Amino acid sequence: MLKAVVFGFLSFVFIQPSSADIYFHNPRGSNNRLDETSRDRNNANRLFDSQNNARGGYNVGNLFYYAGSKLQIEWTNQHSCGAQNANCEIVLQYMCGDNVRDGAIRNTIPENLIQCLDYNCDNDIKFGMHEGYAYWLQNSLRERNRGLFTADQNLNGGRKRARNTRQNPNGKRRGYECAEERDYYPYWHPSPWKDIAVMTNDVSRCDYYKAESENVKGRWYCDIDLTVLELNKRKGLVVPNNKEDCDAFVWPRRSVDGAKGVWKQAPSHGLPAPVCQETEYSRDNHNGNGLHGTPNLFNWTLPNIEAERCVLRFRYNISTNDYDSWTTTAEQNADPGNLGAGTKVNINEKYGFATKEAADARGYTFKNDPIVKIFPDLDIDLALPINTAQYGRTFQDRTFTFDIVKRPADIPDTATIHNLNVRGKRGNIVENYPAVEYDFVPTDLHVSTEDYVHIQWTGSNTNNNGNDGQGRAGTDRNNLVLMRNQVYPEGNGIYNGPGKEFGHFGVNYPQHTSNSTLPLDILTQLAFLQPGQYGGEMSELDDAGTYFNLGAIKAPASGTYHYMCTRNNNFSNRDQKGRLIVSPFPVNEASIGQMGGTLLSKKSKISVEKRVFDLLHLLRAEEWPVEEGTRQISSKEKELNVGDEFASDFLVIYPQEKITKPDKTFTVQMEVDDSKNEVQIYRSNSDNFAAWTKVPAEIKDGKAVFSVQEGGVYVARSNRNVGLIVGLTIFSIVLVIIIVGAIVYFRKHPQKWQTIISNIHKTERSMKSKV
Ligand SMILES: *[C@@H]1O[C@H](CO)[C@@H](O)[C@H](O)[C@H]1NC(C)=O
Ligand SMILES: *[C@@H]1O[C@H](CO)[C@@H](O)[C@H](O)[C@H]1NC(C)=O
Ligand SMILES: *[C@@H]1O[C@H](CO)[C@@H](O)[C@H](O)[C@H]1NC(C)=O
Ligand SMILES: *[C@@H]1O[C@H](CO)[C@@H](O)[C@H](O)[C@H]1NC(C)=O
Repeated sequence: MLKAVVFGFLSFVFIQPSSADIYFHNPRGSNNRLDETSRDRNNANRLFDSQNNARGGYNVGNLFYYAGSKLQIEWTNQHSCGAQNANCEIVLQYMCGDNVRDGAIRNTIPENLIQCLDYNCDNDIKFGMHEGYAYWLQNSLRERNRGLFTADQNLNGGRKRARNTRQNPNGKRRGYECAEERDYYPYWHPSPWKDIAVMTNDVSRCDYYKAESENVKGRWYCDIDLTVLELNKRKGLVVPNNKEDCDAFVWPRRSVDGAKGVWKQAPSHGLPAPVCQETEYSRDNHNGNGLHGTPNLFNWTLPNIEAERCVLRFRYNISTNDYDSWTTTAEQNADPGNLGAGTKVNINEKYGFATKEAADARGYTFKNDPIVKIFPDLDIDLALPINTAQYGRTFQDRTFTFDIVKRPADIPDTATIHNLNVRGKRGNIVENYPAVEYDFVPTDLHVSTEDYVHIQWTGSNTNNNGNDGQGRAGTDRNNLVLMRNQVYPEGNGIYNGPGKEFGHFGVNYPQHTSNSTLPLDILTQLAFLQPGQYGGEMSELDDAGTYFNLGAIKAPASGTYHYMCTRNNNFSNRDQKGRLIVSPFPVNEASIGQMGGTLLSKKSKISVEKRVFDLLHLLRAEEWPVEEGTRQISSKEKELNVGDEFASDFLVIYPQEKITKPDKTFTVQMEVDDSKNEVQIYRSNSDNFAAWTKVPAEIKDGKAVFSVQEGGVYVARSNRNVGLIVGLTIFSIVLVIIIVGAIVYFRKHPQKWQTIISNIHKTERSMKSKV
């Protein structure tokens, strides 16, 4: 018994060191930091339980995004996703609220209202706050879900509320977050968090997530007067977590006319179900990029709302394959009277033991720090560092607050606004790890001339003064200047059509003329951060503010624009460059996996049913106007030798190779001019345009619909007017009949032929005489 207590104690002492983390880089993740000059954050419990390394996170800085704009969210996660080493779910959510705030001091918001201004912590703006006080009161007093697997963690005695979980057995408070809600998703009681996306190794759960998300489904709770909760929170009041107990609830207990509970359903958030798809691959023991050196990213289209003070939240849920954590319940918990004996989880079958006793005898028990004997006949022990509070563990990060703002009136609703931001903080790669060095996000931004780009960034003046960087110690500053012109060969990802190439990634000098298609005032604002700064020492931007906003500008003329930050781009140790690729035609992308999805473009729509792909593909659709298509074809010295005339734009779908499962297809719908004759869809490959093949399509109402297994270049061609051909044919037949008839006639009547000939000669003579 004593041993069990010690074990329980040790296991929660050891929760703090972290091994696998998640960090937001764009937008900036706080990791509970505010404005610390120290490398470590000051308070790990300020707003939420991250379980991340104390060095992670950025200092406070706020941005705003236009409603409906596209934001590239970037993060690093340390224990792999989309790989075999861990089951992984990444749950992305947001919330907005009038009282949501970053706060002005590093202390945790109090639980004791007496410590807040006017006894009102919700309104005491010096404290950072996400979830509100009422939420904390209800959740911290609610009985915990007794069905949950808590392994051999000590959750007995007083530890009976939703603030106590397997991962947080001692019930430690972080901000007003509820530990049970944090650890479990989808959560079963109301929460202010709205779901954006779930990325998982196991998409077979996607339908469940979509159906159960609080976006679409209300949550039940036991409604008890908040004043009763507040006045009795230290008197053993437990809020029931089910209807039966709620209906029977009365406080004080056994009183006749005490306060009652009402079992109520809070409405759903009334939003579409979240996106659910495969996680991208990332490797273990590495807080870095995912596949192909690209950051782990998710493109979020902001909701069409106006809201002040929103935050984003990521949870990174990892579990092992040692037991099935989704089906293991409280029945497998260790005996509360003998926690040291370990859980009842059946790992004996998994590891090939005949019985649980045989497995236990060799140390194959799911419990804290088991000691195993791997050879039956050798009495040699090997200790396994297992912490049951962390086998199945959730990490978290949240951003600083941001606003969602109405789109400017002069930007059409149909135009895409892309956010272009800066990530990273002052310091070299070691000094700011696990945060990252400066970079533009997205580094490669591909837009069309119809699109808008919202350029904006923020930083801090209070980074660690020892961190390496240019300009005044401790400060972040950025600018954006076009790079020196250089002839750039056609290459990967570069738009190589009409338009100019601006700069080159391999050089480090900015362009020295304003001879580009961007207006001079925009170029000077981006370079010197004006207006907003009148004079001061600006060669390293020291006298500018940390925040810069250019607003949303229309994309410049087509071309590839390379740019850099003159202050931070220091080849000795760091590169801060980006590129804006502007195409004179619509470009749209969507990441679609086993769960299917749609990619909508201006004149086309690609629909992928469930289980057509067996992995995540980044689909991309470009809609080339006819001139662009013919230019591309002739640049490869090829011709379009099918049909006679165009009946559509060129629809180019990437990847161009076969991407479906062998017996599956996806559907493409594109606008065609079906008033033309014999419209047919043809396909080729834009790498070489070697051959055009006919694609069977259903064509009606100005649309062609066809099913294919691969991307490529699709275009509709029509044939010459059939009426004309028929007319011509009839005309030639009539002509032949006349000629043949004439020959036959004149053979039979040669004298008539003579008459005609002599008449012609007469005419000739008379004409001549006239001359
Ligand atoms: C994490 O995974 C466990 C199963 O291992 C599940 O019970 C829990 O709800 C998940 N939590 C989150 C936040 O995804
Ligand atoms: C996200 O958006 C960026 C910038 O527009 C694009 O380069 C990238 O391919 C997109 N990625 C996904 C997975 O959609
Ligand atoms: C560029 O970076 C190097 C390496 O950190 C540093 O020593 C040097 O001072 C930097 N250059 C300037 C002008 O700050
Ligand atoms: C500026 O651009 C024009 C048109 O592209 C070009 O003819 C001219 O040479 C450029 N001038 C300089 C200084 O680069």
